[in-house]
Amino acid sequence: MSFIVMTGATAGLGAHAVQRLARPGTQVIAGARGGGAPPAGCQVLPLDLASLESVRGFACAVRSQVDGAGIDVLVLNAGAQFSRDDRRSADGFETTFAVNHLAHYLLARLLLSAMADTGRIVLTTSDTHDPSVIPFGPKRLDVGALAHPPRRGSGLRAYAASKLCNLLTARSLSALDEVKDRGISVIAFNPGLTGGTGLLRGQTRVRRALAPAVLPLVGALLGRSHPQFHVGTPERAGEILAELALGTAVLPPGRVYASLVNAELTFPDPSELARDDAVRDLLWRESAAMVGLPA
Ligand SMILES: NC(=O)c1ccc[n+]([C@@H]2O[C@H](COP(=O)([O-])OP(=O)(O)OC[C@H]3O[C@@H](n4cnc5c(N)ncnc54)[C@H](OP(=O)(O)O)[C@@H]3O)[C@@H](O)[C@H]2O)c1
Repeated sequence: MSFIVMTGATAGLGAHAVQRLARPGTQVIAGARGGGAPPAGCQVLPLDLASLESVRGFACAVRSQVDGAGIDVLVLNAGAQFSRDDRRSADGFETTFAVNHLAHYLLARLLLSAMADTGRIVLTTSDTHDPSVIPFGPKRLDVGALAHPPRRGSGLRAYAASKLCNLLTARSLSALDEVKDRGISVIAFNPGLTGGTGLLRGQTRVRRALAPAVLPLVGALLGRSHPQFHVGTPERAGEILAELALGTAVLPPGRVYASLVNAELTFPDPSELARDDAVRDLLWRESAAMVGLPA
């Protein structure tokens, strides 16, 4: 029996990925808030990423479920996007930062020692982390200001910054001696602009209403000159997420970032900030302090 632990399996591209991950001989443990129908073939354990206590409880429940057998794949795919950055998590952090980054950072750290040797960790990031792709991508990282914004700001900026945090966390994890010694691979996956998912749920009513018309228009106008603006499907993004998780799609040696561009998997450099080791280490340290773990 192999074990896959996943967040974000209940909707969007993750729901398509999980259809390929839940196979005979594999137990998929999905962390979810509940409410909707549980993904077929999965065991669902309660998890609200907007609460660090819930993350700790989930990690504990996963450990007792796998009972020392080793987690083969950890897929950290859940994500949320809001119109503004004025929501707060149960622990008082800005919610986009808390859900997309801090909760997944804590989960990865709590489950790392329960990973099987040669296992895989996949974090879903986004090319919005890169200001050379999207103008609102972060040009600097102020972790304190992301966690506690000093003034009300844009939800899209908070989202893009949280996705930079996912990429930096993937780079930090892959640099750990424990990860290298045990042959665990770490991947930051950008599914690219993907239509038809629930990601815009937290956006304003106007943006939600316009998206089905605007997204294809953006794809048609910009997709040829800027392939990153090609609008992909959740089916294709889920398929590639599953391939990366199962190890049937493999990154070139030494690479961490895999990006779906125009329906094809590519391995570009992430943004300049994402490649900065000082920024990477700063995020690791400050996140550790926020969740009460040693750096
Ligand atoms: N769509 C795009 O264009 C795009 C582009 C680049 C990257 N991404 C990334 O792809 C990933 C999947 O997004 P998607 O587009 O498939 O969006 P989606 O349809 O909204 O799916 C998001 C998933 O995250 C879960 N989630 C959100 N908040 C949660 C919380 N507090 N606790 C537990 N689970 C929570 C949702 O669970 P519920 O069912 O409970 O809501 C759902 O399963 C995200 O990381 C997103 O940032 C998406």
